[in-house]
Amino acid sequence: MKTILVTGCAGFIGSHIAERLLNEGHMVVGVDNFHPYYQRALKERNMDGFKKHKNFKFFEGSILDDKLLNILAKEDIDIINHQAAIAGVRNSIKSPLEYLSINTLGTLKLLDRFRDAEKFIFASSSSVYGDVADNELPIKEDRKPKPISPYALSKLQAEEWCKLFSNLYGIRSIILRYFTVYGPRQRPDEAVEKFMRKILSGEPIEIYGDGEQTRDFTYVGDVVNANILTLSKGSGVFNIASGKRISVNKLVELLKKATKKEVKVNMIERQIGDVSHTWANIDKSKNELGFRPATDIETGLRNQFEHVQSLAKSLPTLSD
Ligand SMILES: NC(=O)c1ccc[n+]([C@@H]2O[C@H](COP(=O)([O-])OP(=O)(O)OC[C@H]3O[C@@H](n4cnc5c(N)ncnc54)[C@H](O)[C@@H]3O)[C@@H](O)[C@H]2O)c1
Repeated sequence: MKTILVTGCAGFIGSHIAERLLNEGHMVVGVDNFHPYYQRALKERNMDGFKKHKNFKFFEGSILDDKLLNILAKEDIDIINHQAAIAGVRNSIKSPLEYLSINTLGTLKLLDRFRDAEKFIFASSSSVYGDVADNELPIKEDRKPKPISPYALSKLQAEEWCKLFSNLYGIRSIILRYFTVYGPRQRPDEAVEKFMRKILSGEPIEIYGDGEQTRDFTYVGDVVNANILTLSKGSGVFNIASGKRISVNKLVELLKKATKKEVKVNMIERQIGDVSHTWANIDKSKNELGFRPATDIETGLRNQFEHVQSLAKSLPTLSD
């Protein structure tokens, strides 16, 4: 049994990780400041299943707050699982400083405060690769990163801090580059969640560009599995993805099947900062972590739509 600090434990991925760690018998110290990027009510609901668990302690506050870090440092933390961040590529183009502050400085502050911990697991992103030519796909971890948004740059800088701290202070850092994560509790600004909410209310969905951009959609349960595997294995950088890609147009077809509803589509202009394709080579994660993506996209979409429907019933006033 380990004591694990999960930052961003009220968010989409962090809440699933915290819940799974508790189910596996670990102590979880959770921190989240309910950043207003999206609704607090959604984040509170994400924690419903575990907030009263006897092995869970929650601290509301920011990873940038030194007083809070001092309090957390007294909790005998073995492992840091760092999910807290401000996500969103497009929003990062509007407010780059906030991304530098939360994502890069926030990571550095945690590394500095917990440099004696056993391990630091960092949630990074496929966006660090930038726009990738067809002949470089599926992308491997050793491809030179070329961020094209402040979000991607903030994640790459945080990765570099993780590596530097591993070299200087010996804390083992594990960098997981997630590829388009979807599933129940997905952030309301992300494509699948946005599309499902619109489909449920009979509104058209908006597709950027011609819809032929491709994404390696990764089910949240598989991302959680990868995080669990890192408790006992691995160091360095790993792609965490399904290892398969589909176009956004194909996604629309799958959404019709998963929701059993009509899907109206409006095509609009491609957005700056968006990459054309993501598709991961996951051999390294398979070989070194024993990672195996287990949920196919049809099942994952059905699970997410069930969650969206239950949300619509219990929190009907929520809109993105
Ligand atoms: N969802 C994806 O597709 C995806 C893809 C690649 C990488 N990631 C990374 O995975 C992690 C989790 O992403 P998510 O989609 O669950 O996002 P999320 O926004 O749902 O979760 C992040 C959580 O961090 C919290 N937070 C933000 N600033 C904080 C601060 N200063 N102090 C404490 N808490 C703070 C937020 O309130 C939120 O609950 C992030 O690091 C993100 O960059 C996500």
